[in-house]
Amino acid sequence: MRKLEIDGIRVIVFDDTKSMIAEAVSYLYDVLRTDPESVIGLATGDTFIPFYSMIAETFRKARVSFKDVTTFNLDEYVGLPEDSPHSYHTYMEQNLFSKVDINRKNAHLPDGSAPDPEEAASEYEKLIREAGGIDLQFLGLGRNGHIGFNEPGTSFDSLTHVTELSEGTVLANAHLFGSPEDVPHRAITMGIRTILDARRVVLLAFGENKSVAIRDTFTRGITESVPASSLKLHRRATFLLDSAAAKFIT
Ligand code: GLP
Repeated sequence: MRKLEIDGIRVIVFDDTKSMIAEAVSYLYDVLRTDPESVIGLATGDTFIPFYSMIAETFRKARVSFKDVTTFNLDEYVGLPEDSPHSYHTYMEQNLFSKVDINRKNAHLPDGSAPDPEEAASEYEKLIREAGGIDLQFLGLGRNGHIGFNEPGTSFDSLTHVTELSEGTVLANAHLFGSPEDVPHRAITMGIRTILDARRVVLLAFGENKSVAIRDTFTRGITESVPASSLKLHRRATFLLDSAAAKFIT
């Protein structure tokens, strides 16, 4: 394991993915032990499959409960019904909510099937504020450096909003849908400002296909063309990486 500090971000590089995931899970458990009523920001994608399965296996033994926790997911596709097999609602239900003792009424995702998605996005932002803000926000990383569904060019002042997915993101997610034509082209996502307002942020990235996004995050300054570089403006951001994702970091 290597511990570094780059541009104010704590970076921990692990030799294997399992110990990286275990570290992320331990952060969550520590927060839940300190405050069982914490507000947690959750992420989806392939990166978080091993994370949620480790939680499902270990949370009882670890003596933590989700009973009083509030969660807010980062994003959801626009136009998919909640019960679509491809929605993030379904992903969260299958990978986490059905496996732990969470109270469903405290588990929030943006309403991608709302008749007015813009209004649903503002409502979501309001709900986060009313919950007192996010204590610990987990993030994955897009191959183009996106966080949530904030694609390159998104303003660092953005709040939860409706966004257009880039061609690359549609292609990267096509394997989950069968074909690129079936991937929705819009999503509701927490904005960069929403993410930066979380009291603590932990980004996870493993595998070589994230190495360029990690390199760009640390070599291109603080720029809206690399959304993850906004995290340098955060006072408590940690990146957990495996050695493949960190291969350009010296
Ligand atoms: C997706 C999600 C992001 C996720 C990222 C990486 O499009 N909207 O929240 O962090 O892209 O996904 P994966 O973990 O599958 O590589």
